[in-house]
Amino acid sequence: MPRLVVLTGAGISAESGVPTFRDAGGLWEGHRVEDVATPEAFERDPDTVQRFYDARRRAVASVAPNPAHAALAHLEARLGDDLLLVTQNIDDLHERAGSVRVRHMHGEIGRASCLACGSRVDVPGDLADAPPCPVCGERMLRPDVVWFGEMPYWLDDIDAALVACERFVAIGTSGAVHPAAGFVLTASAFGAATLELNLAESEITPFFSESRLGRATVLVPQWVDEVLGG
Ligand code: NAD
Ligand code: APR
Repeated sequence: MPRLVVLTGAGISAESGVPTFRDAGGLWEGHRVEDVATPEAFERDPDTVQRFYDARRRAVASVAPNPAHAALAHLEARLGDDLLLVTQNIDDLHERAGSVRVRHMHGEIGRASCLACGSRVDVPGDLADAPPCPVCGERMLRPDVVWFGEMPYWLDDIDAALVACERFVAIGTSGAVHPAAGFVLTASAFGAATLELNLAESEITPFFSESRLGRATVLVPQWVDEVLGG
């Protein structure tokens, strides 16, 4: 079991140029969640939903990981299985920085899943131009992201790790969305020390044993140095 669990949110990718959801200028300012990020929206108007995620997909492809992603990759290289990196982000910036074992609890923008057989496949370009499902031939693929009202991935593994870990760290998340917002409570109830690294106070700041405010590109490398240095 990992001794350290790290949870990341949109804030860690903000300085790479990926907009967050709830900050000023965030994604949910220009879009209604109900129109683009629910199963009902996809059923009603799949083209609009696909266009929304194809735009996200292109935006992510055009940016690069930042020093916060790099520091976490370095941490994994040193700690191996003692670290579990859980992300709410659907971008692949952790992987591009060198992290290997990343649990994408809200799915991955670079993948699609088949509405007929459930297969999950890599889709390099726009979903709108994707070929049919390679397994069953179904034409309609959906973005492999977890929408509101759906169950996130990896929850059993994450829960077991939260119960067992000695330290839980949340980076760049507003704590507005469950179940990720409750991870700090589980970890601390089972005895872990808890640390928040975020630009501003979040909805869950009071639940952490320590909270540091600042930019992820500054705070994360500093904290990783502390962990590895002593
Ligand atoms: P909800 O009804 O929106 O979601 C219920 C479940 O959906 C949760 O268990 C969650 O894990 C899951 N889920 C599915 N897809 C998700 C995704 N893409 N991102 C995050 N979670 C996803 O949940 P709720 O309890 O009504 O709302 C949780 C929080 O989400 C609220 O505190 C609210 O601030 C926020 N929220 C914000 C907006 C918005 O920004 N416009 C819209 C809906 C919810
Ligand atoms: N460094 C550190 N933190 C930052 C930075 C930065 N440079 N920029 C922004 N932040 C912080 C903000 O202060 C905010 O608290 O990151 C947080 C981003 O919060 P949200 O936009 O709500 O993103 P997140 O918590 O990841 O959203 C959770 O909601 O809509 C769903 O599925 C979506 O995974 C997402 C989930």
